[in-house]
Amino acid sequence: MSHHPKLAILGFGTMGQAISAGLVEASGYPAKLIHVATRHPAACRARAEALGLRLSNEADAAVKAAEVVLLCVKPKELKSLLDGLTAAGALDHRPLVVSIAAGATLEFLTAHTPENTPLVRAMPNTPCSIRRGMTVLAAGEGVTEAQLAQTRALFEPLGRVMDLDEKHMDAVTGLSASGPAFMFVILESLAEGGVQCGLPRAVALELAAQMTLGAASMVLETGRHPAALKDEVTTPAGCTIAGLMVLEDGRIRSVVARGIERATQVAAGLG
Ligand SMILES: NC(=O)c1ccc[n+]([C@@H]2O[C@H](COP(=O)([O-])OP(=O)(O)OC[C@H]3O[C@@H](n4cnc5c(N)ncnc54)[C@H](OP(=O)(O)O)[C@@H]3O)[C@@H](O)[C@H]2O)c1
Repeated sequence: MSHHPKLAILGFGTMGQAISAGLVEASGYPAKLIHVATRHPAACRARAEALGLRLSNEADAAVKAAEVVLLCVKPKELKSLLDGLTAAGALDHRPLVVSIAAGATLEFLTAHTPENTPLVRAMPNTPCSIRRGMTVLAAGEGVTEAQLAQTRALFEPLGRVMDLDEKHMDAVTGLSASGPAFMFVILESLAEGGVQCGLPRAVALELAAQMTLGAASMVLETGRHPAALKDEVTTPAGCTIAGLMVLEDGRIRSVVARGIERATQVAAGLG
């Protein structure tokens, strides 16, 4: 990024920390340009200091000085936070406001910010902390190409970035933001299978994780359909098809797909 905007990050929990770590540790964003505001700074001072970030409980001051404001609070905290910032005049200079809150629509954000505030919804995930994230962006009305590019530039160092229509944001949340948790459970299960068959636990976990990384990379890098790649691993009457039969008996496809569907439904109700 050629110009690093002055950034206010409101909320320094799981995602505020993941994004800050990705920006500062992995992509060289100057820490001195980031002001993090949270209600209880003492609880996360050590992490902020390790990253070299300015940390306070002064959201108004952080926003007044910022070119870009990143909202990383829980959806239920958003209304009072935005109403407070608006009442304090902290958004009067119309910084670009980027919200990562699940379920909080552009309509909702518009209703709780001053008129003509440029708004973007972003849905990142925790792998952003190690630059393997996936972030989907949906821009509000009146957001310029330059502002969208500024938002992209913020998330691109943290992984892949995609623009989508806002109507997809809940499904994006259920799949790509909740998804790491689902994958961690699947990884744990794969490793348990190895342990059950005699592998030391650490070995089983490393094999499971590297195999998952490899399989996902094959899909992304070759552009081939997972079914075609699966067929290549599956020798007639071999061990892989035998294992696949057991997974299909357990309805693995519908269980996983329904998990995404349920997470999407809940995400839609969070805002
Ligand atoms: N977790 C994920 O994997 C994930 C993925 C994508 C998107 N998201 C979205 O990211 C947002 C944050 O989620 P999270 O998991 O990071 O939550 P979290 O760990 O609970 O962090 C929320 C942070 O917001 C702070 N906060 C609350 N009210 C505040 C206020 N008025 N002013 C300033 N800071 C305030 C909290 O600290 P204090 O109480 O000390 O203020 C805390 O640091 C949510 O909207 C969620 O939908 C999460």
